[in-house]
Amino acid sequence: MHSFGYRANALVTFAVTILALMCGMASLSDNFNSPSPSAHVQLRISNSLTPFTHLSVLNINWFQKQPKANDEVSMTLNISADLQSLFTWNTKQVFVFLAAEYETPKNSLNQISLWDGIIPNKEHAKFWIHTSNKYRFIDQGSNLRGKEYNLTMHWHVMPKTGKMLADKIVMPGYRLPEEYR
Ligand SMILES: *[C@@H]1O[C@H](CO)[C@@H](O)[C@H](O)[C@H]1NC(C)=O
Ligand SMILES: *[C@@H]1O[C@H](CO)[C@@H](O)[C@H](O)[C@H]1NC(C)=O
Repeated sequence: MHSFGYRANALVTFAVTILALMCGMASLSDNFNSPSPSAHVQLRISNSLTPFTHLSVLNINWFQKQPKANDEVSMTLNISADLQSLFTWNTKQVFVFLAAEYETPKNSLNQISLWDGIIPNKEHAKFWIHTSNKYRFIDQGSNLRGKEYNLTMHWHVMPKTGKMLADKIVMPGYRLPEEYR
């Protein structure tokens, strides 16, 4: 009497189990196939073939103190990156963002996103952008004069199945001007 419902249910359970197993295997094999991006980066750095072949601040367009006393800076960036090594058959897309990171008396880490992008596939993973900051670089105070900061490229690898991977590469040693301009 219940045999049809029972069988259908059993079939669904079986199908779900297989699916889960396949997903598990997929993400497992992906983990085996690709060394962690950071290891990859480290390796490539030592060969001086970093995924980010070039990143520079070409110009400080202006640097001012807002009426509310918050510092704001506009800069032109030259970002060129090769993220092709992050792509495997299991990669859905890669989200990247470039942040300025600096320390203030109040916070040990202030992180300001300056630019971001979604890379849909390996063909678009090698790119070069000449741009002014997409998001405003505003400090919650007037801490930016002569401030040392790092530019950090963060990436999130979104897989088709399995867990998301996140990593970053830090480019230290940038400094803002001593004076507003
Ligand atoms: C920007 O970066 C690209 C790629 O590294 C380089 O060829 C180009 O000369 C840079 N542009 C400037 C103005 O520095
Ligand atoms: C900037 O980078 C240096 C070197 O990696 C690191 O020691 C420092 O903590 C970084 N600063 C911030 C604010 O993250």
